[in-house]
Amino acid sequence: MIDETIPGPSEIAELRYLEKLVTEIPASSEIVEVGTFLGRAAYVLAATRPDCNLTVIDPFDCNVGEWLRGPTIRGEVSRYSGQSQFDTFKQFMNGHENVRVCVGKSPLPRWMLSSPNLVFIDAAHNYDAIAADIAYWSTIATSPTALCGHDYCDEFSDVKQAVNEFANRNNLGVHVEPGTTIWKFFHAA
Ligand SMILES: C[S@@+](CC[C@H](N)C(=O)[O-])C[C@H]1O[C@@H](n2cnc3c(N)ncnc32)[C@H](O)[C@@H]1O
Repeated sequence: MIDETIPGPSEIAELRYLEKLVTEIPASSEIVEVGTFLGRAAYVLAATRPDCNLTVIDPFDCNVGEWLRGPTIRGEVSRYSGQSQFDTFKQFMNGHENVRVCVGKSPLPRWMLSSPNLVFIDAAHNYDAIAADIAYWSTIATSPTALCGHDYCDEFSDVKQAVNEFANRNNLGVHVEPGTTIWKFFHAA
């Protein structure tokens, strides 16, 4: 399920691909989203799979008004620029009781987490941050192939570099869904 009105950077094609990915995981799985903003992707993950638990991690401290002026923000931006990030997120997630919110920064202490079958990484996009997120979440998830993320594109070359380097070191392939910037590891033959 997609709510196109929730503001955020993902294209509709990317939300559809996330919907497909989350449909494929086993019943009652754990899902993690690292970097949630106002919940554009989180809504897809939580609403499509009410049988699964979604943990979202974000400090919820960015300046929403600034972000919503960004050229790549989609959805209905005008109504939310005066509200806090956290209040706006809660408003969008209202009614989805399978969402657990961690207000803070990735990585989280291990004891807070059970092994997720799907981790969507969309937090800080500089090389050190994305490399650290991939390294950490690959050890928490059921498999490194449970990891996927946003913005594998020339505009975010640090994301491409960190994803490619991790794949090469671990003999994994990188699938980038056509028409999107979503990457996902797979076991190379
Ligand atoms: C690109 S936005 C996320 C967009 C979101 N996935 C969506 O669907 O709209 C990046 C978010 O990452 C958050 N962030 C930055 N560093 C983080 C960290 N270390 N851990 C978790 N979230 C972080 C920011 O607060 C911001 O809300």
